[in-house]
Amino acid sequence: MPTLLRIDSSPLYGRSVSRQLTDAFVAQWKSSHPGSAVIDRDLNATPIPPINADWVAAVYTPDEARTQQQKESLSLSDALLTELEQADEYVFGVPMHNFGVPSVLKLWIDQITRVGKTFSYADGTPKGLIIGKKATFIIATGGIYDAQTQMASFNFVEPYLRSLFGFLGLTDATFLTAGGTMALNHGQDRDAFLAPHLQTVQTRAQTL
Ligand SMILES: Cc1cc2nc3c(=O)[nH]c(=O)nc-3n(C[C@H](O)[C@H](O)[C@H](O)COP(=O)(O)O)c2cc1C
Repeated sequence: MPTLLRIDSSPLYGRSVSRQLTDAFVAQWKSSHPGSAVIDRDLNATPIPPINADWVAAVYTPDEARTQQQKESLSLSDALLTELEQADEYVFGVPMHNFGVPSVLKLWIDQITRVGKTFSYADGTPKGLIIGKKATFIIATGGIYDAQTQMASFNFVEPYLRSLFGFLGLTDATFLTAGGTMALNHGQDRDAFLAPHLQTVQTRAQTL
């Protein structure tokens, strides 16, 4: 039975478009995979400190030589990596913040991007170590950043996530974007806006 890791990063909870879409994805995924497990990692409810010099030193110290303090500084990173290993599939809810990913997601990325764990430089060439997993990224943006639009070059969410997770070996990734959510602040009906996006994420969850 597959395990799904769900990672949300919108601070808006009940008003969040990405969370509503990850909710729908998970509900559909559960009904298509009865008895399967879902690991819920809510990054807005997970205090993640920025990495510091001690953390970097601990990462580059061989396992067997780490001090107790170094082991403790890596304990959160180890726990987050275990979730990635345990799951077969991942779904991410990602709001665009200031043209990039939310800071809580970047803090998580800094914890899980670890030499010897999720990538290596054996032979001097980078090798991703997240192998055999499938990911769905559900992105919500206030504006519209479709290719060929004037604003496309401002989108640092999808290109960043594609590059980063590709580097880590996760190449089976699907990106679904609900663009133009700012219309919801200008009278657009929420159900009408969300209907096609709900359909898309449910179809994706069903076919996984
Ligand atoms: C702090 C913050 C920064 C934002 N920055 C951008 C931005 O740079 N470009 C954009 O199109 N929308 C931006 N938005 C709008 C969000 O992308 C939009 O509200 C989206 O629906 C967020 O996803 P969520 O509803 O899941 O929180 C921003 C929203 C917030 C709260």
